Amino acid sequence: MRVDLLAGATYNPAVMPSPVPTILVFDSGLGGLTVFSEVLKVRPDARYVYAADDAGFPYGRLAETVLAERVVTVMERLIALHDPDIVVVACNTASTLVLPHLRARFPMIPFVGTVPAIKPAAQLTQTGYVTVLATPATVARDYTRDLIETYAAGCKVNLVGSRRLAGFAEAELAGSPVSDEELLEELGPCFVEDAGGRTDVVALSCTHYPLLLPRFQAIAPWPVTWIDPAPAIARRVTQLIGHPVPGHEADDDEAIALFTDGAGISAALRTALHMRGLSQVVVESWPLR
Ligand code: DGL
Repeated sequence: MRVDLLAGATYNPAVMPSPVPTILVFDSGLGGLTVFSEVLKVRPDARYVYAADDAGFPYGRLAETVLAERVVTVMERLIALHDPDIVVVACNTASTLVLPHLRARFPMIPFVGTVPAIKPAAQLTQTGYVTVLATPATVARDYTRDLIETYAAGCKVNLVGSRRLAGFAEAELAGSPVSDEELLEELGPCFVEDAGGRTDVVALSCTHYPLLLPRFQAIAPWPVTWIDPAPAIARRVTQLIGHPVPGHEADDDEAIALFTDGAGISAALRTALHMRGLSQVVVESWPLR
């Protein structure tokens, strides 16, 4: 299996990207906002659609065939509605499985994926003890195992699959944070210490988790380097569609947050979305399981 960190290296654009591109950022929920914010920094001129398939959240519990079919179906509708110039799959659980399906189905659209930052983690560690914190599905993927074999064979890699953290991150943003005790139950297994050394790098391999980073830092048993891949993903976007063209930019209100269910949209969440530059919130309820 081919592994490349941002999994977007094969796209070769046949046409010049538009001066004001439409960028679709996709996740199962709110985690992709951590990627959206970084992409917005490098392309503040673009039109944005942030799409949360919250009717399918959490993706971490879906079987591989179900998830692959679902993401392709949702993407077909999003692409038909919004005609994006580029799609950022801001979800490790989806990227580690469905990128080949998406590229085969939409060969003219560049897809940038988000996959566990195992290579940077292996480069950064001093002790050789690296933790990959992800959803249980991402931890179990062949793609993740291949990344470890390829880039971190010399490290002690601790794979931690959390069933609850993505939901905790959603709750945090929606204004109902969970307690430190509950958070520590999920985070504790990331910290390994034995006679050989202790964990010094944690790769945040679910896009939801950087939403909790200040809380992780406050409760961590010892300081570690936390890797959030979002800035690297934003760089990959500019490699593919270039930098802003002076004199061309979208109107401020041309950033949409789209939800496929919308049941969790609270006043606190609307405020959080607005503060991130997403003032238009729409719900597209599609009959998907
Ligand atoms: N944000 C997604 C990721 O990066 C996962 C959350 C979910 O389980 O839906 O893996």
